[in-house]
Amino acid sequence: MGRLICLSNRIPTGANPSGGLVVALGDVLSETGGIWIGTSGEIAEKPDTCLREIEGGPFKRFCFDLTEEEQENYYAGYSNSVLWPLFHGRTDLMEIHQDYLNTYKQVNRRIAKLIAPMIQPDDRIWVHDFHLLPLAYELRVLGIQNPIGFFLHTPFPGPISMQALPNGREVCQWLSNYDLVGLQAERDVRACLASMVEIGEGSDLGNGFIHLAPRQCRIAAFPIGIDTAEFTELAAREIEKLPSGILKPDRSLMIGVDRLDYSKGVPHRFRAFGEFLDRHEEWHRHVSLLQISPPTREGVQAYDDIREETEHLSGRINGQFADIQWAPIRFINRPVPREVLAGLYRASQVALVTPLMDGMNLVAKEFVAAQNSDDPGVLILSQFAGAAEQMTDALLVNPHDTEQMATSMLTALMMSRGERRERHRALLDGLTRQDVHWWSNAFLTALG
Ligand code: G6P
Repeated sequence: MGRLICLSNRIPTGANPSGGLVVALGDVLSETGGIWIGTSGEIAEKPDTCLREIEGGPFKRFCFDLTEEEQENYYAGYSNSVLWPLFHGRTDLMEIHQDYLNTYKQVNRRIAKLIAPMIQPDDRIWVHDFHLLPLAYELRVLGIQNPIGFFLHTPFPGPISMQALPNGREVCQWLSNYDLVGLQAERDVRACLASMVEIGEGSDLGNGFIHLAPRQCRIAAFPIGIDTAEFTELAAREIEKLPSGILKPDRSLMIGVDRLDYSKGVPHRFRAFGEFLDRHEEWHRHVSLLQISPPTREGVQAYDDIREETEHLSGRINGQFADIQWAPIRFINRPVPREVLAGLYRASQVALVTPLMDGMNLVAKEFVAAQNSDDPGVLILSQFAGAAEQMTDALLVNPHDTEQMATSMLTALMMSRGERRERHRALLDGLTRQDVHWWSNAFLTALG
């Protein structure tokens, strides 16, 4: 079997790299003598002309630095101020600048030139996420003919949104240079096929195949999973280590965990919780919402704005309802270690996973995996998370409908143990069948 060469903007660092993708790809990478390539996270004076090897770890890793200008225009600019908002239904937040696009293309061209010399004839290449859309196109220009797959971890926009992107046709052209484009959900496949036809001017050949001259690619859904069994074990172990005082016998815990991103709908969630408290005085002092939101992409205006809005809202709701023994919302703006989160998920009665738009959302999956199946908590899940296509036994909500969300909070808190167990069993069965190993196998088998 040829090697797997994997590319992503962020590369798992440290001697023992961790995270979902590492779990999914680590075995294939080690078994095939594969390589993972990505940015180092460091800023250099001049663009790198060769890759640096990261020492240690179970598989080979190579990285390169970005310059200050590349970080600004490629990462904060085109990736996070154009593609991210576009892919999450927020065309209003797009900041279109020619410089952003130019640097984005330059960085992808540079990566292609850095990696092309190391590609062997029977290697397979797997590119991850929106930072690297043009990479296959740039590799094809250099004569690379190996199978190249792409997986997008975010949603994909339909033609109406894509019209807002001045180079929408070019984006479709980039995608057509992959042999396989994997998306999170069927809704994304439908949107992508429509955009490839209407914006890219390609022809739909049926069964997910698109012809966009001179190439043909296949588009299909591969919903990403988690290492379900491992997470269940982790949570069972970690709940024992939670500091006493976090849990109170007469108080239910609702939990939300999201990067502080406008796509996550945290203000909508806070407003719905405020509505719930307004309607149900009997629940005052008997429920609290723990919202953990580490800051992300700081310096991009939309992220500074969402931070201000959420701080303001949590302050207002606490001001309105808190008393000397109880604050309804605890809002934590720092990263919390994965194992502590696992324990907290298991200790919570309800999870609020209510993004306005989300590729998959693995918090939803981790929360379910973390539950004690004898007395499990309830997942409230937005219909706009990719996870909603698989996790139909959650309480599905529309995050724009504050009243419906408030009603679902009561339903979740009052749900009988029998119903909680039934829903949890169905959800956990799905997560066990389609875990992260299933995902990477399915994608790589389809790539061939
Ligand atoms: C999303 C993207 C990832 C990205 C992550 C964190 O999940 O799909 O590609 O790495 O957000 O964002 P950051 O900008 O900090 O890498």
